[in-house]
Amino acid sequence: MSDLDALLQAAQADFAAAPTPAELENAKARFLGKSGRVTELMKGLGALSIDEKKTRGAEINQCKLAIEAALTARRDALAAAELEKQLKAEALDVTLPGRQRGTGGLHPITRAMERIEAIFASMGFDVADGPEIETDWYSFSALNNPENHPARSMQDTFYVDIKDEKGSWLNLRPHTSPMQIRYARAHAKRYAAQATTPEGMPEIRVIAPGRTYRVDSDATHSPMFHQVEGLWVGENISFKDLKAVYLNFITAFFETDQLQLRFRPSYFPFTEPSAEIDIMFESGPLKGRWLEVSGSGQVHPQVIRNMGLDPERYIGFAFGSGIDRLAMLRYGVNDLRAFFDGDLRFLAQFK
Ligand code: PHE
Repeated sequence: MSDLDALLQAAQADFAAAPTPAELENAKARFLGKSGRVTELMKGLGALSIDEKKTRGAEINQCKLAIEAALTARRDALAAAELEKQLKAEALDVTLPGRQRGTGGLHPITRAMERIEAIFASMGFDVADGPEIETDWYSFSALNNPENHPARSMQDTFYVDIKDEKGSWLNLRPHTSPMQIRYARAHAKRYAAQATTPEGMPEIRVIAPGRTYRVDSDATHSPMFHQVEGLWVGENISFKDLKAVYLNFITAFFETDQLQLRFRPSYFPFTEPSAEIDIMFESGPLKGRWLEVSGSGQVHPQVIRNMGLDPERYIGFAFGSGIDRLAMLRYGVNDLRAFFDGDLRFLAQFK
């Protein structure tokens, strides 16, 4: 093997052994650089005769071209390998589902509340909203539930260590019933001034949905829950109307008339007589079980008086239903706490 063939082989081997472009450039310098081996050979030409210079020069040149070709080939190979590596690292799996912007949805309790509002609005009920931080007077006393009366423990609430300007203790309302008083008082003055018209007396017909609070926590009770208060008082509003209104509501809410309503005697300080309203589905998974959904009763004359209305003229009914309970029954949810955990896997099902 000629010295030039050996040189070419050495260069090829060096290039092949260079694992990176930087090391390849170092190897290049060893052969083609200013003091590289090819350059050294060229320098050696000076000592030769003209004829020898010609042939040897041409041979060296040939060798140099071959070394350059080997260098280019190795450069290309390294670049291709680098590209391959990059492509692998940045590989796109086009079968992955795209990233979507999450769309929000209404909370199931909000949905239930909106259904309830729409149904009662269709029966001519106004929809009212009131404070969650209440005074002792609205939460209890005005509802015929005097201080220190044991019936107050029926709605054991969270008391706040603050009094309002009239000296009434503040609490987180344990029920929506204070709204009976608030709404009626907001309208009573106007009504009291109005004489009976041929259409009859002006009536109060309202629902008040919202948050309520009690010292309670298990699978069916949460310290914060939701109620809807209903109130209809007028000249001649009776239990018969309560039954008609409630049956209409409950069949619309559950979208079935395969159910029965039952009034079970009960006690509330603000109604007399009082009743729990139970419902029973005649079909479906809950078939045959009586389920309590509401307290109710004929508004107590003292409460009518506290509303600023004359109990000799005004009579009617009130009810207070648990919205969470209704939503659980409608959506088949068996743990109330699921509504308030904020778990998107649960909530997303209601979108
Ligand atoms: N406020 C009662 C409760 O929370 C329910 C109720 C409302 C009962 C209106 C009668 C009339 O239990």
